[in-house]
Amino acid sequence: MASNVIDGKALGAELENSLKIRVSNIKKVHRPPHLVVIIVGDDPASKVYVRNKERACKRIGIDSTRVDLPSTCSPEDLENLIGEFNEDPGVDGILVQSPLPTGFDEIGITELIDPRKDVDGFHPINLGRIVTGRLGGLLPCTPSAVMKILESTGVEMKGKRALVVGRSRIVGMPTALLMAQKGIDATVTVCHSKSEDLEGLCKSSDIIVAAAGKAGMIHHQWVPIGSIIIDVGINRVEEDGRSRLVGDVEGAASTRASWITPVPGGVGPMTIAMLMSNTVTAAESIFNRSEDS
Ligand code: GUN
Repeated sequence: MASNVIDGKALGAELENSLKIRVSNIKKVHRPPHLVVIIVGDDPASKVYVRNKERACKRIGIDSTRVDLPSTCSPEDLENLIGEFNEDPGVDGILVQSPLPTGFDEIGITELIDPRKDVDGFHPINLGRIVTGRLGGLLPCTPSAVMKILESTGVEMKGKRALVVGRSRIVGMPTALLMAQKGIDATVTVCHSKSEDLEGLCKSSDIIVAAAGKAGMIHHQWVPIGSIIIDVGINRVEEDGRSRLVGDVEGAASTRASWITPVPGGVGPMTIAMLMSNTVTAAESIFNRSEDS
C-alpha cells in the first residue's frame, strides 16, 4: 500500500492565505499585528527556526521584531525584557525561543509571559484551557498543527485508537488531550521512554503521533497497514558524509500507512502557520479589548 503523503507546506500556505485576509481587516482599523521573538545565545538550529518565523510574518503582513540576547545575559535581563513587552501596547505576541542556555528556568520563563500574548501557547493558563475544553484561545502550535493535519485527511477519529509517542509538556501531552476531547473522541494512549512493548502499542493503533525526538525509533514493520502516521520528529543525521533531516518514523512506513506526514515538509511548516494564526488571534483580541474600554 502506498500512502497519501500529506503536504504540510501546502496546508500551511492555505492557512496563511486566510490569515492574510484577517491581517488586512485588522490593518483597516488598527496597526498590523506585531510579534516579538527573543533568542538567547547562538544555537544554530534556533537561528534557522527564528528566521523561518520572521519570513512567515513577512509573507502575511505581520510586523516582527527579533531581539538577540547574548548567552552571557542573566535570567533577570530576560525577565525584565519580557516584562517590558508584556506592558507594551504595540506588541501582540511574545515568543522566547527554546532551548535557553543552561542556568535559565524555561518553564518559569513561560509563566512570565502575559497569557494573552503567549503565542507559543505554553503558559499554564493556555495549556490548562485544553483540559477545561476552552479551545478558542492560544493553543500550543505543534499540537494544533497535528490536529489540523488529521482533520485534512477527512478520516473520522471517533473511537479510533491513537498512540502518542512522547509525553512532553509542549507536544505529546497537549496533543493527547486534543485528540481525546469531546467531539474528536479518539481513544488515546500516551507512551514514553519507560513504556513497555512500543512495538505492540504501535501495531494495535489506528493513528500514531510520533513526538519522541529519536530518529527512526518507530520501525516501519510496526506501522499497521492503513494507519495514519503523523511524524513530529525533526532529527539531523549524518549518512555517507551528508547531513539530512529525518523523522521519528522510518521512511519505509510510507509503504504501509494510508496517510503519512513527510519530514521535512509535514508538521514543521504547519506549526509555523499555527504560530502566525495565534499571533493574529492575539492581535484581534487585544484590539477588541481596546475598543471595549
Ligand atoms: N524551539 C523549537 N521549537 C520551538 C517552538 O515552537 N517555540 C519555541 N519557543 N521554541 C522552540
